Amino acid sequence: MDSLFEGQWQILQRVAQGAPQAEVLTSIVRLIESQSEGMLCSILLFDARRQTLEHGAAPSLPAEYVREIDGSAIGPEAGSCGAAAHFRRPVIVEDTSVHPNWAPWRELALRHKLRACWSTPIFSPEGALLGTFAMYYRQARRPTDVEKKWVATATHLTSITILLGKQAELQEQLRQAQRMEAVGKLAGGVAHDFNNLLSVIISYASIISDSLTPADPLKADIEEIRRAAYRAGELTRQLLAFGRKQVLQPRVLDLNRALPRLEKMLRRLVGEDIVLSLRPASALGTIQVDPGQLEQVVMNLVVNARDAMPQGGSLTLQTENIVLDEAYTALHPGIAAGRYVRLAVTDTGQGMDAETRARIFEPFFTTKEPGKGTGLGLSTVWGIVSQSGGHVAVQSQPGGGTTFNVYFPCVSLVADDTPSEPPAPTSLTGDETILVVEDEEQVRTLVSAVLRRAGYQVLEAQNGGEGLLISEQHAGRVALLLTDLVMPRMNGRELAERLQQTRPDMRVLYVSGYTDNLALQATTDDASLAFLAKPITPQALLRKVRETLGPGSAPR
Ligand SMILES: Nc1ncnc2c1ncn2[C@@H]1O[C@H](COP(=O)(O)OP(=O)(O)OP(=O)(O)O)[C@@H](O)[C@H]1O
Ligand SMILES: [Mg+2]
Repeated sequence: MDSLFEGQWQILQRVAQGAPQAEVLTSIVRLIESQSEGMLCSILLFDARRQTLEHGAAPSLPAEYVREIDGSAIGPEAGSCGAAAHFRRPVIVEDTSVHPNWAPWRELALRHKLRACWSTPIFSPEGALLGTFAMYYRQARRPTDVEKKWVATATHLTSITILLGKQAELQEQLRQAQRMEAVGKLAGGVAHDFNNLLSVIISYASIISDSLTPADPLKADIEEIRRAAYRAGELTRQLLAFGRKQVLQPRVLDLNRALPRLEKMLRRLVGEDIVLSLRPASALGTIQVDPGQLEQVVMNLVVNARDAMPQGGSLTLQTENIVLDEAYTALHPGIAAGRYVRLAVTDTGQGMDAETRARIFEPFFTTKEPGKGTGLGLSTVWGIVSQSGGHVAVQSQPGGGTTFNVYFPCVSLVADDTPSEPPAPTSLTGDETILVVEDEEQVRTLVSAVLRRAGYQVLEAQNGGEGLLISEQHAGRVALLLTDLVMPRMNGRELAERLQQTRPDMRVLYVSGYTDNLALQATTDDASLAFLAKPITPQALLRKVRETLGPGSAPR
């Protein structure tokens, strides 16, 4: 009895030191086994979502036996452990060679000379099923009173170990979520300021470049500046995505229809050595997501999978309806329980170890050689999916392939499948009057300069109040209000609403690279409104302006 007491203390000490769960569970099994000659024990852990049992520790049971039992479903006739889990009470099988519960595993058990098996469920203090503790003997027999006491000790120790393990895991998840939140805020803020600067750099470079003759030696230099700035704009866009500060324009989508549209492009991306297959679920729910952003998510995951399979392999994109219950959300802070659509991207590539897995969503984390990866792919995925109310999880083992599970909340709406991009208008010029409202002076000057060069009449205001005043003083028609969405005091949306009371036929084009305001996010969610994302380039600006005004708009 003393050795049992001593052993318990040692195990509790290891638990307190944060020893790995598998090690502690094995020590518990070994401690109990050391109490009696010929006794073999095992701890099975319960998977609430799958309703199955899996070995947490069984150091003395034959490996083949353990493999066969692993992952089996619980049920009234599922051996000793499956039945104990099902009925939530001990199940004592004195002789596996005759007991009906053992029919499916009888041959297996007898081959390994396992004749008696007594199993007891393990509960949390709240009564949730955590697993089972089993004792085996090679002879048919029933437990003695002292053996029942050992079982009580074992289930108690196991329950403490599992609960503390879960708590540590939850704390780690929370810490991770907080760190992502902080880094995201920083990235989003930096990207916002960068966008304004880049708008200015790109646009003036374009203006200078356009005014030079093709033979001018400066032309190539200016083009280099412009190219570098575009590249910086691309990075900024990814940082904004990570910071969940993008202007999203969600649509109601059916993934089963959206994915085949990308299929051709994805096949080209992965090349011929990788077998790409789509496995759509039937009757898939609809989701609400920006189609362009969804494409980004899928592309990033597919490119990563390709990079993980340099010798080829297979890549599967599978869709599924899934309900995330409280058992799942308890382990994943920040996710609401409910109905989701899951996109699983599975590759047969090199996989990842735990250390890599823990950091993949951080911006600039990459294991690729310099110049091969920026480490922004998965941060972008994480940002886009989080901003869309969803969640990404990864399952991966070194050498065992990888699955990224992307969950989008299911909305019960009919998919809106209209093509997202209207055909580009041919002309980029016009002579209508445009009121430009932008608090960032350099950006305002630039936008106005580009518009004037294209023939437009431009009125400039640096904030909403000034915009209202200028509109009042302007007797003629104002065809378009081009306003920054996020401005101090009066935001772009409010300004547009007030101006449209006196100018009902005035069109509105919002400019923004950034949202962190729910009211404004609702504005950007409205697919009927026109948006221009920063950084602004002269081409994109003129095209969007023409598009918003319409090709046939009346002259001033
Ligand atoms: N399917 C996968 N299999 C194995 N490792 C992966 C997989 N996907 C991502 N990783 C690991 O995660 C790291 C980060 O991925 P992420 O997409 O963020 O950046 P990257 O691919 O390295 O660079 P970028 O996407 O910016 O070009 C990768 O460098 C790689 O180590
Ligand atoms: Mg990548």
